[in-house]
Amino acid sequence: MAFTLVTGGCGFIGNNFIRQIRREEPERHILNLDLLTYAGNLENLADLEGDEGYRFVKGDIADQAFVEGLFEEHEIRAVVHFAAESHVDRSILGPGVFVRTNVAGTQVLLEAARRHWKGGERFLMVSTDEVYGSLGPEGLFREDTPLDPSSPYSASKAASDLLCQAWHRTYGLPILISRCSNNYGPYQFPEKLIPLMIQRASRGEDLPVYGDGMNVRDWIHVDDHNRALRLILERGAPGRVYNIGADNEQANLRIVERILDRLEKPRDLLRFVTDRPGHDRRYAMDSSRLQGELGWRSLVNFDEGLAATIDWYLENRSWWERILSGEYREYYSRQYGEG
Ligand code: NAD
Ligand code: DAU
Repeated sequence: MAFTLVTGGCGFIGNNFIRQIRREEPERHILNLDLLTYAGNLENLADLEGDEGYRFVKGDIADQAFVEGLFEEHEIRAVVHFAAESHVDRSILGPGVFVRTNVAGTQVLLEAARRHWKGGERFLMVSTDEVYGSLGPEGLFREDTPLDPSSPYSASKAASDLLCQAWHRTYGLPILISRCSNNYGPYQFPEKLIPLMIQRASRGEDLPVYGDGMNVRDWIHVDDHNRALRLILERGAPGRVYNIGADNEQANLRIVERILDRLEKPRDLLRFVTDRPGHDRRYAMDSSRLQGELGWRSLVNFDEGLAATIDWYLENRSWWERILSGEYREYYSRQYGEG
């Protein structure tokens, strides 16, 4: 059986990606490689148990022998590489694991693909708009904007993005690179802005807004991001970079206020706290290449998508309560009988 290897499929974007594929492209079989770090939650894909077109394997992308073995044992026709340490604040507190996973892990995957692939395969690197650094009040990130990352997280992603470009130019590996803006939607780990604020507000806790709250992010629904990734995987040109964004700039404070309003909670829960060091001021994407060359369009309206997302977290309270209590980590040992 031929597989698309999805790395990091138990995280936020990856689990939504796998579910979208299994729903809309059932002929594409998925092998999900995930280390189940704090951010990986196997429960996210519990509904795929028994699906013959889906397999999970626990492992580390930075473990060269393990990854080589995986490529030997399975016919891997494509890689969609999500696995990463993804949280900027954690990268400021402890950058080492970001370099190990995001840089060394990507190199291990590239090498395994280079050694095993014969032709016709595809390797999609899921990069980020954060590699471009910060914008002033005007302008948009284009694919030819110089990389200028600010945080250990974004620097490690820029390094992995550049490694992919080097493996394309030097070894001819069929690489595709996507750089997407901030995602929102169901199953996002509750340390990121939107789910963090929803879970704290719903419990009547203070909401920590960094700095003046006027940093701007260009929000996109995770399903729109994943539809773009599938198009790039299918029809993108090897060696090419594609920006993904939904033309939806929002200041952090406005988002937090909308969450408070939908939850009918008072504004006095807001707390302006010390700013994140090196905090990028504004991200905004020009995704005209993706739209013009591959015909992608954002389908999810932000007002509707945000309302549905807030409702999802309220209706799935036990999902994030099991994360906050640590119970979600027991699921793997119950299913697979090991720690
Ligand atoms: P996430 O933190 O929710 O998930 C990361 C997943 O990777 C987890 O399941 C984790 O267990 C797994 N992982 C971590 N280290 C691993 C290792 N060494 N080996 C195997 N698996 C490992 O992240 P996310 O928000 O879903 O982001 C996924 C990817 O998309 C990342 O590469 C991120 O840089 C990129 N991205 C994210 C956003 C966003 O807004 N969240 C936007 C653009 C790009
Ligand atoms: O732009 C894409 C990136 O978006 C991805 O590459 C990253 O993996 C993803 O984590 C995200 O990075 P951000 O740093 O933009 O996301 P975060 O949710 O951490 O923060 C969003 C904004 O909200 C940012 O300006 C910081 C602010 N913030 C965040 C937290 C957690 C707060 O004001 N308070 C908070 O408690």
